[in-house]
Amino acid sequence: MSWGLKNRLARIVKPKTGHTVMLAVDHGYFMGPTTGLEKLDKTVNPLIPYADALMLTRGALRNYIAPDSDIPIVLRVSGGTSIIGKELLREGIIASVKDAIRLNASGLAFSIMVGSEFERDTLLGLAQVVDWGEEYGIPVLAVTAVGKELGGKDKDARYLALCCRIAAELGAHFVKTYYCEDFEKVVESCPVPIVIAGGKKLPEEDALKMAYEALQAGAAGVDMGRNIFQSENPVAMIQAVKAVVHEGATPDEAYEIFKEKKGAKAAARVK
Ligand code: R5P
Repeated sequence: MSWGLKNRLARIVKPKTGHTVMLAVDHGYFMGPTTGLEKLDKTVNPLIPYADALMLTRGALRNYIAPDSDIPIVLRVSGGTSIIGKELLREGIIASVKDAIRLNASGLAFSIMVGSEFERDTLLGLAQVVDWGEEYGIPVLAVTAVGKELGGKDKDARYLALCCRIAAELGAHFVKTYYCEDFEKVVESCPVPIVIAGGKKLPEEDALKMAYEALQAGAAGVDMGRNIFQSENPVAMIQAVKAVVHEGATPDEAYEIFKEKKGAKAAARVK
């Protein structure tokens, strides 16, 4: 790993705790105006002070995020398909490394579709992006997709460990996957840091518990989207998640933080 690559990775995964709170707001690349992100800047700007990195597309970055922001960017560079198209999993490269450098990206994110008929294309795509990352000193986040489309394979430790290990073997510098039972097995067999996606919106208490359990099992943090920006109070929720990730707050403590921050905002409105 070059100095530049290590330096960029240290901007995302904070050396002080070895952990990270990444905020994923890239959903529009295949889902269009996702609930909560219709006006992405309105939702995301208040969350930026609490996030360690922002994961999004180049179009969202250019249109919604101010260029004087100092939040590290993890740029989504795979896509090209949509939820209404016929080949959702047939993602390809959607942004060049030169544009990523122009955008001062701290990381590149690429989805792999292990077990799908497009597995080979996405794994070779990841390898290509890793070559760019090595050449220009930009860490690559492999995102392991899950879902019914993947031949019925879903979130079990055996499948996710397979995906994460393949991603690391192909050179990904960190991996995003989903939390599952026996998650420590996924972490143990993956030689690079793992962050978890949040998945579909859960009650806040449950999402905090999931983050806590993932950290306890050895995850380096979260790359969470809907469970933050679709929360009834996203600013309170990201602070609660941050307490779990960086301060080791238990789910109960974190939920108290959520309620307290939510309450503080409501009280400020009444004044
Ligand atoms: C997954 O492929 C994309 O990066 C998603 O947009 C993101 O991971 C979803 O995050 P969450 O599941 O926490 O909403």
